[in-house]
Amino acid sequence: MCGIVGILGSHEAAPLLVDALKRLEYRGYDSAGIATVRGGELDRRRAVGKLVNLSDLLVHDPLLGQVGIGHTRWATHGSATVENAHPHQASTVAVVHNGIIENYRELKTELNGHGYGFETETDTETISVLCQRFLDEGHSPPEAARLTIKRLTGAFAVCFLFSTDDDLIFVARRGSPLAVGYGNGEMFVASDAHALSCFTESVTYLEEGDCAEVTRARISIYDAANQPVERAVLQVKLESGAAEKGAYKHFMAKEIFEQPSAVAEAAGQLSAEIASGQGDLANLDFTAFERVQMVACGTAYYAGCVACYWFEQFAGLPAQAEIASEFRYRGRLLGSGDLSVFVSQSGETADTIAALRYVRNTEASNLSILNNMSSTMARESEVAMPIHAGPEIGVASSKAFTCQLATLVALAIWAGEQRGQLEAAAAGDLANQLKAVPGLLNAVLSMEEEIACIARQIADSTSALFIGRGSMYPIALEGALKLKELSYIHAEGLAGGELKHGPIALVDKTLPVFVLAPSGPLFEKTMSNLEEVKARGGRIVLITDSEGAKKANDSIWKSLVMPTVNPLFAPIVYAVPMQLVAYHAAVEKGTDVDQPRNLAKSVTVE
Ligand code: M6R
Repeated sequence: MCGIVGILGSHEAAPLLVDALKRLEYRGYDSAGIATVRGGELDRRRAVGKLVNLSDLLVHDPLLGQVGIGHTRWATHGSATVENAHPHQASTVAVVHNGIIENYRELKTELNGHGYGFETETDTETISVLCQRFLDEGHSPPEAARLTIKRLTGAFAVCFLFSTDDDLIFVARRGSPLAVGYGNGEMFVASDAHALSCFTESVTYLEEGDCAEVTRARISIYDAANQPVERAVLQVKLESGAAEKGAYKHFMAKEIFEQPSAVAEAAGQLSAEIASGQGDLANLDFTAFERVQMVACGTAYYAGCVACYWFEQFAGLPAQAEIASEFRYRGRLLGSGDLSVFVSQSGETADTIAALRYVRNTEASNLSILNNMSSTMARESEVAMPIHAGPEIGVASSKAFTCQLATLVALAIWAGEQRGQLEAAAAGDLANQLKAVPGLLNAVLSMEEEIACIARQIADSTSALFIGRGSMYPIALEGALKLKELSYIHAEGLAGGELKHGPIALVDKTLPVFVLAPSGPLFEKTMSNLEEVKARGGRIVLITDSEGAKKANDSIWKSLVMPTVNPLFAPIVYAVPMQLVAYHAAVEKGTDVDQPRNLAKSVTVE
């Protein structure tokens, strides 16, 4: 999604801006641009597509100046064209913006009425034009920026650059994150502190409603009431977003193969924290809760769906999962017996943040399960728990998902023990079985070629179904999401029992149907669904273990025989073939695996 950087430097800004934008590249975008000030003039370069196009443009048409702002745009208002790419410039001010300005139509009409014209279809251009209007009225740059912000409704992180001042970037945040980085006689701004990893490790995160005047010498921050305010300067170890692919062709492949060690780390760290009784976890008393709500988006939501089974089974806690974008508008009635658990890789997903803020205004407790511990959600949650997945660069989530699952299952076991639902010995036995999961993941990864072979054979399909029951149902949903986002094949995940209520009409001899059926209490029922598909000629891929394979009828198109796993932990293990099928189908089709079209890693707009 959109990314912002700004530099008040002592060297040419353009190459540094492009470098910083590269660190935001993994978030997903469709155009990019930078603007600088030099000799009282603002100038900009913008290009559609990958950053390499902007770099090429800069080789032929360099941009000079030591102060500048840059942006990667993920189109919302207006298609991905050069005209719509940021920075947007009125005569003496340029602006980059993340978020959505909801009252842009009304502002446009008003500004048109005052004789101001527009060149783009974007909501953002209203910010630059409105600011220009205040400048034309004689306001100073910071004053004009402040007056502009006051008129905006919606969510934003915004940076203003003025032709009249090459020692000022004015920034403001409402709803979207913004960080300031301190250099030696230099200052930096970014929507994501990772963009600053090669410049500095001293960072201030602006708080909701803050704005700031940033110069090379200092930063003056004002809160939502426009009062001067101090914000902490943090020393953060920023992991570079431009991590290496190593021997792998794609980040996603690397991340899939990192899962055994990442999951071991996730489960191990949490177990150690539980055993020590230290850390934020000590503030969580599960005996005080009557209900759990899991709230998240996309893949993280599916992790929440699986966790509901675990919280109910291990801890006897009624649990429900809800999509953050629905939860936030439903006006859920929550009380002191509720625990809302937010799951997010990035910790910056706009809808999940909004849902968290909703819960903060109720009597319910909140807990976030996050990969990015320097995110907005980490700062705003009562308890923030890391999943220890390490940087996930591929836009499609893989290791973050299995690490979310490993963290949530360990948490549910602990909740069960706290609530007296699990004897210490039973909890210990489950914890030991969890320790064995990374070994099972390795066994699945060794099946890569067999899985790739199936993926290549379904890569020309126009549609696919994934079915599962119980905790395999969310894994079926995740399998369908992975296939859609990576290979652009339409796919649906279904609860096995729902097939006959409509979707079975889709089955014909061309339709691949992935059946997730580990041995366990729901195996036979799932096999009945498989038979329904077989009777209609569907191309079945059965994913089961050796016991399941023995029971299955042999006239099945393909079978993947997985290692045997306790059905309680099967969701973690069965997620991996889903990822490998989608990955290899995408490689076969030649799609952009790490940055699939139209997608963003961190969805910072509603
Ligand atoms: O950063 P988050 O975990 O909050 O992101 C949630 C979703 O946007 C994310 O899981 C998305 O569905 C991925 N593209 C899935 O691969």
